[in-house]
Amino acid sequence: MTKKDMIVAGVMSGTSADGINVALVRMQSRPTGSDISSGLRGRAARSPTNRSHAGFELLGHAEYSYPKKARSAVLAAMNASRASVAELARLNFLIGELYADAVLATERRFRVKAQLVGCHGQTLYHQGEPQSFLGRKIAATWQTGEAAIVAARVGVPVVSDFRPADMAAGGKGAPLVPFLDYLLFRDARVGRIVQNIGGIANLTAIPAGATANHVIAFDTGPGNMVIDAVTERLFVQPFDRGGKIAASGKVLVKVVEQILQRDFFRRKPPKTAGREEFGREFVREFLRRCGRCAKQDVVATATALTAKSIADAVRKYAIRQTSSARTQGFQEMILSGGGAKNSALVDMLTTELVPLGLRLRLSDEFGLPSAAKEAVAFAVMAHATWHRRSSNVPSATGAKRAAVLGKISYP
Ligand SMILES: Nc1ncnc2c1ncn2[C@@H]1O[C@H](COP(=O)(O)OP(=O)(O)O)[C@@H](O)[C@H]1O
Ligand SMILES: [Mg+2]
Repeated sequence: MTKKDMIVAGVMSGTSADGINVALVRMQSRPTGSDISSGLRGRAARSPTNRSHAGFELLGHAEYSYPKKARSAVLAAMNASRASVAELARLNFLIGELYADAVLATERRFRVKAQLVGCHGQTLYHQGEPQSFLGRKIAATWQTGEAAIVAARVGVPVVSDFRPADMAAGGKGAPLVPFLDYLLFRDARVGRIVQNIGGIANLTAIPAGATANHVIAFDTGPGNMVIDAVTERLFVQPFDRGGKIAASGKVLVKVVEQILQRDFFRRKPPKTAGREEFGREFVREFLRRCGRCAKQDVVATATALTAKSIADAVRKYAIRQTSSARTQGFQEMILSGGGAKNSALVDMLTTELVPLGLRLRLSDEFGLPSAAKEAVAFAVMAHATWHRRSSNVPSATGAKRAAVLGKISYP
């Protein structure tokens, strides 16, 4: 460790609202990011297993479930058409406390002290597209979890609220993780689709030999969100562990095909999705379409919807229609997120990818545990912000320019 190396804790809690992921990352003094969103000069790609390539090393990763009542409150706030301001304010400070607990516990566990925290926050609302509001066109996003609390309790500065600066630059504020995907997975010869399956599923397509402005990234649709919702509803379990329920059911192919006709799936990227698209109302309609079939068939169908929508998105929007996967060198899909633990989903996806000539690999094979990836991304982005470097990928978010992301709270 040189004097200028910095240990950064990345904190992520996604739309699944399952809990908090913390990654402790040693960032090397040569700051990452100088050649990414400003740029356009991608260096010759090296193997992603060569960690110095991205300038960091993962020291440890841990996952903490939200306490049950906190999870219910988060889900209620996300789904609410109306909410109490007092309750949202309290939730903001409560989640700040939970983030601080999570970072401190991870530091103790790995006996490492962070010098900076990058905290994504819990998204309660995300609307990346401007819409009419009180006479103006407004895009809006809201990540909760009070960073001042985290800074005070952990005792180091905290970078939070990454998305608004990209939106102020004309972007959709999402996806942001392509910054890390590009640093880690670009390769001179192998084109890669980096696919995360969290509550929402999103991909980053990096053609062989790509520079940052060749990167395409967008949300492909539901990840675990619909699977979780129907499993909770029909089996009173928070998720389909290992994909066992789905594996025991039959897919209602018609339902999947009908749903894939929806506007979201036909829209060209860049596009983002959240509970606004695939939350409670969507699930109600999904269940209605499934009708009176066996309960496990509903879960199998929700799982197939995720797999099929990902493969469709890859075919239609990620691999350019005019050239074959081979000419852009696309050979691999690299999977991360909680969905990678759902074997039924992974099996369905593997089958879907065969005709596209893509081989499925886990991000774990590259030294990055699939559950840790997004937390690592926010550590790397916080480090960029600390050095006043941009970390959005304009070709991914649609931003007109590079932007330094986030706000800094001091202890
Ligand atoms: N062992 C498992 N088997 C099946 N699904 C799992 C397993 N572990 C996690 N998941 C799924 O992953 C989700 C959490 O994924 P995550 O990547 O944390 O998403 P998010 O970023 O939205 O929080 C859970 O809600 C669940 O659906
Ligand atoms: Mg999660």
